[in-house]
Order: sequence, then structure tokens, then C-alpha cells
Amino acid sequence: MSKPAVQSIRRVAVIGTGVVGASWTAYFLAYGLDVAASDPAPGAKDYLGGFIERARPDLARLGLTGNGKLSFHAQAEEAVAEAGFVQENAPEREDLKRDLLARLDRASSPDAIIASSTSSLLRSGMVQDCATPERVIVAHPFNPPHLVPLVELVGEPNATRRAADFYGAIGKRPVVLKREAVGHIANRLTAALWREALYILEQGIAEVEDIDAAVAYGPGPRWSHMGPFMTYHLGGGPGGIQHYMEHLGPSQVRRWRDLGTPAMNEELTRRAVEGVLREAAGRSIGELERERDEALIRWRMAAVEKSG
Ligand SMILES: NC(=O)c1ccc[n+]([C@@H]2O[C@H](COP(=O)([O-])OP(=O)(O)OC[C@H]3O[C@@H](n4cnc5c(N)ncnc54)[C@H](O)[C@@H]3O)[C@@H](O)[C@H]2O)c1
Repeated sequence: MSKPAVQSIRRVAVIGTGVVGASWTAYFLAYGLDVAASDPAPGAKDYLGGFIERARPDLARLGLTGNGKLSFHAQAEEAVAEAGFVQENAPEREDLKRDLLARLDRASSPDAIIASSTSSLLRSGMVQDCATPERVIVAHPFNPPHLVPLVELVGEPNATRRAADFYGAIGKRPVVLKREAVGHIANRLTAALWREALYILEQGIAEVEDIDAAVAYGPGPRWSHMGPFMTYHLGGGPGGIQHYMEHLGPSQVRRWRDLGTPAMNEELTRRAVEGVLREAAGRSIGELERERDEALIRWRMAAVEKSG
């Protein structure tokens, strides 16, 4: 059967409208796509409405002023029935996702792609009960998806190709993995950094505020422009990555030997929490989110200006 072109996708179903699902919904609507949403939690519809209202002015600053139509459905099956694309954002539990994806698979049009936002579950485990698993993929966004472009795709080549076309057409930056891996790409990298940040704290090398500053004022800004490979290409000077690997490769190996794995215990939790609250200096989660979003919007506006 020939698959419909991504341009013909007018309606997206968003299943699970918590932190990530609400952000996806705001993004799709601002692109002018209709969204059929579903979430079983009492109050989910109000939370979603509030999130969309708060996100709308931010998206408008990025030029996204589309006005897709939102509908909210009690049953996930109802929401997916007429959707050309399904974005699943239910809680991160394999048993729950396995059951839910099988239901969405049964209830949706056979042409629709079903994409799970899972942060670290393997696709092979989640699709076991699906009748047509070949159209069920992982499409992992970075929080908040309405402001951060990355979406990591895992699945059968035909489905990930169609999904990459769809996300690319709506301004996301899809990356397709060659095979599944726990945490995909970006969360493996962030997990490696987070493990070492906690180890530095545990070992008494530095306090939370200084560890955060060492990322936010050092490699962080560079990473918003280029990844680790390109960063070290420049670290090699005129000889580029070849020179870097030969010259500083052995020093990296020495550093890796000294890295560690912290004990995830009560003491480390207490020190992490105390440090973060000191660093937050009374700012609420809402205020910190606002600061983060403002920085992301300014970064995205600069990127849009550069490319335009
Ligand atoms: N929070 C993040 O930073 C982040 C980033 C990327 C991906 N993700 C992934 O997105 C997914 C959702 O995470 P979240 O942080 O938005 O969680 P969340 O707890 O904020 O939202 C989950 C939502 O799913 C709803 N839900 C519960 N059971 C359901 C069911 N059977 N069917 C449909 N919806 C159901 C809940 O009511 C809730 O609103 C997870 O797979 C997570 O790994 C999260």
C-alpha cells in the first residue's frame, strides 16, 4: 500500500498530555496541525489548556503562529481514529506502554506512524503486542519539545524515514539511530555527564553550584552550536581531529581512568538537594522554567535569524 505523503498529515493524536505531551501539543498546534489529545488523569484537560496558553506567546516569537484545532478525548482510541501521526507520551513503564501501543495500533489508521516519546525504553520491548510493529517507532524529544528541536528516531527504516520527513517538515531536527540502545544517543551522553557530576560532588571535588557553572559557562555554550566531535576537531588547531586524537587522545584515556560511579544513596541525595536549593536561591520551579525557556527562545531566535 502506498503511504500518504507527510504533507497530507493534518491531524496528530497526542496520547498522554503531561510535561512532554502538553509541550508537543502546543508545538503541533502552533504549526497549524489539528491535535486530538487524550489523557486519563482528572484535570488533564485543564493542565493542557493552561500549558498551551503559556506556550503560545513563546512560539509566536519563533514565528509559529499557526492555529490548529484542539480536541480532547476521554478514550485514546477515539483520539487516534482519524490521525495521520500519533505521538505517545504516557508514563515511562514498559508494561503500560506495551499495552497502550498495542491499543493504539489496533485503533489507528494502518497508514499512521505511531511514535513513542520514551526516554530510555527499548522499542523491541514496547512493540511486542502490536499487530503492525513496523509502523511503531521511538521518537524521543528533548524537554521542552516545543522549544528544543532534537527528536531521536528508532525503528524500521521505512517508518523512521517517513517520521524524519514529517518532523523535518515541521522544523524539528530528527536524528535516526542505526540500532536501538537504552537512552538512545542524547540521554546516554547526558547520563555519562550526570554520573560524573554526582561523582565529583560525592568525592568532595566541588560543590553543586560550581559543577553547574563549570558546564553552563564552559562547554555548555559551545555544545549549543556543535557536538563533541566537531568541538575536538577545533581543539586540534590547524591539524583538526586527526591531530587531536594523536596528541590529546592518550590524555583522554588517563582522564577516563579517573572518572567514577557515585553510590546513589541518601547522603548523596541530601547533598545534591541542598546544593540545588542553594543554587536556586528561592526561585520556584516555575521561575526557573521561565528562565530556561527565555534562554532557549533567544537561542532559537538567533538560529532562525542566521538561517533566514
Ligand atoms: N520529562 C522529560 O524531560 C521527558 C523528555 C523526553 C521524553 N520523555 C518521555 O515522555 C513520556 C512522558 O513523560 P512525562 O515527563 O511527560 O510524564 P508525565 O508524568 O508528566 O506525563 C505522563 C502523562 O501520561 C498520562 N497517562 C497515564 N496513564 C496513561 C495511559 N494509560 N494512557 C495515556 N496517558 C496516560 C498521565 O496522566 C500523565 O498526564 C515518558 O515516556 C518519558 O520518558 C520525558
